[in-house]
Amino acid sequence: DGNADEEFARRVRDAIAALEARGVGFAGLIMDQVLTSDGVYTDPVGFMAPVREAVREAGGVFIADEVQSGFGRTGTHMWGFDRHGIVPDLVILGKPMGNGLPIAALVGTETLLNTYGDTFRYFNTFGGNPVCIAAADAVLDEIERRDVLANVVATGALLRQGLDETLAAHGIAATVRGTGLIAGGDLTNARESVAESKELVGAIVNGLRERGVLISSTGPRGTVLKVRPPLIFQSEHVSRLLAALDDTFTHLAS
Ligand SMILES: Cc1ncc(COP(=O)(O)O)c(C=O)c1O
Repeated sequence: DGNADEEFARRVRDAIAALEARGVGFAGLIMDQVLTSDGVYTDPVGFMAPVREAVREAGGVFIADEVQSGFGRTGTHMWGFDRHGIVPDLVILGKPMGNGLPIAALVGTETLLNTYGDTFRYFNTFGGNPVCIAAADAVLDEIERRDVLANVVATGALLRQGLDETLAAHGIAATVRGTGLIAGGDLTNARESVAESKELVGAIVNGLRERGVLISSTGPRGTVLKVRPPLIFQSEHVSRLLAALDDTFTHLAS
């Protein structure tokens, strides 16, 4: 509803209070900025802001996990936290950073990183690998050179609209959410029971896999289709995905 952001912040405050009451204390909150593994909740834009404030008020560290949302996944912004208009204390980068090569990074405020560096001796067997760093450098260049973000906005809109239309054409009650090239098709109410909806989502994921298209499922009940293609996805790839989806539904109905 319209107060989802304030409700979210209230629950975080309650959780912080519960930790304090138990004598555990509160260190910080880590948040995926597009909640990919939680059912794809990307909107309304800015809904992370009251939570970010709640963390600041409690003296905690707000950590933006950009492993899924970073490097232009949302299309409108390079970073998910930027889309929500917030400034985190720490930012985690990973997965797309090396376009397949293993590399991750932690970005943070000078105060936090200096305090950490002065207090602990950091060691990492594979840290500072020049090959992976070259890959990460190339990724940043390619994002700029290919104007990847503009493609993400345009192709992402086609993808979400196409998913919506294809689900509706087959009489499936669904809500399609997302931004850029992260789309979630929520089929929780598509069947009589959540268990049956989950079964349908599994059948769709497998049907697409058999047709050469890889997607996944997400959400606490496994009832949301998770579509998160490469950022170079084009309209012809959207068409291929939708044709496979259409064929899957036809097969499931027969
Ligand atoms: C939001 C998010 N953060 C972190 C990770 C973990 O990344 P890694 O496997 O590189 O540790 C994942 C993995 O999929 C993720 O989805």
